[in-house]
Amino acid sequence: MALIIVAGESGQHAAVVYEAAVLSGMSVLGFATVRNTEPPSMFDCPWLGNIGDVATSQIAKGNEFIVACGSNKQRRQQSATLSSLGATLRSIYHPAAIVSPSAQIGAGSAILAGAIVGPRTIVGVSTIINHAASIDHDCKIGDFTNISPGARFAGCVQAGVGVFVGLNASILQGIKLGENSVVGAGAVVIRDVLSGKTVVGVPARPLR
Ligand SMILES: CC(C)(COP(=O)(O)OP(=O)(O)OC[C@H]1O[C@@H](n2cnc3c(N)ncnc32)[C@H](O)[C@@H]1OP(=O)(O)O)[C@@H](O)C(=O)NCCC(=O)NCCS
Repeated sequence: MALIIVAGESGQHAAVVYEAAVLSGMSVLGFATVRNTEPPSMFDCPWLGNIGDVATSQIAKGNEFIVACGSNKQRRQQSATLSSLGATLRSIYHPAAIVSPSAQIGAGSAILAGAIVGPRTIVGVSTIINHAASIDHDCKIGDFTNISPGARFAGCVQAGVGVFVGLNASILQGIKLGENSVVGAGAVVIRDVLSGKTVVGVPARPLR
């Protein structure tokens, strides 16, 4: 049983996930792409082809998948397709990530180098907790969410499905980030963010 990494158009996030998978001791069979062409990236493992062409045969062989597209929408679409075909989605934990034994991490999520996931925090499926992001205790991070490098979540924050949080943003304790909301890089969020809204700045305010 080996891992297949599904790459987005640039392949950049997939390369990061590939390295984390190898360093954590996983056997990576190769990567598949959402397009028919090999992405311009730095892989040293084989390109297996378009995911639509290889999924069924690789599922039958018992291989597992992680969708490593940076786009929340694309990760959601590809994960849904693979799950509907009966694929097993595998989570990746970089060996330099710290995940509390009481945290729960959903299938197909990537917890990258230097990230911290605190006690009793729940991370949804196919979510990215990127380099050095810190999610404190009792948070709930929705499915298909992307927490960028260096972002900081205080305790008891709730992020809905499909949220994007930019580089070095800080989210104060107990804040709720609505479904598909976006927090700009460097923002300090002190009030709840409505679904679909983008906030930026210190303190964070809705982008007009
Ligand atoms: C918030 C964000 C999503 C907005 O993107 P956008 O909709 O394309 O917005 P624009 O670049 O058109 O900027 C719109 C306005 O918001 C301001 N703005 C954008 N991002 C901002 C930020 N992070 N903080 C403060 N102001 C910001 C711009 O200066 C501009 O202001 P103006 O209208 O007065 O000139 C984006 O700027 C951002 O912060 N993305 C995060 C990137 C990141 O962290 N990536 C991680 C990769 S791993």
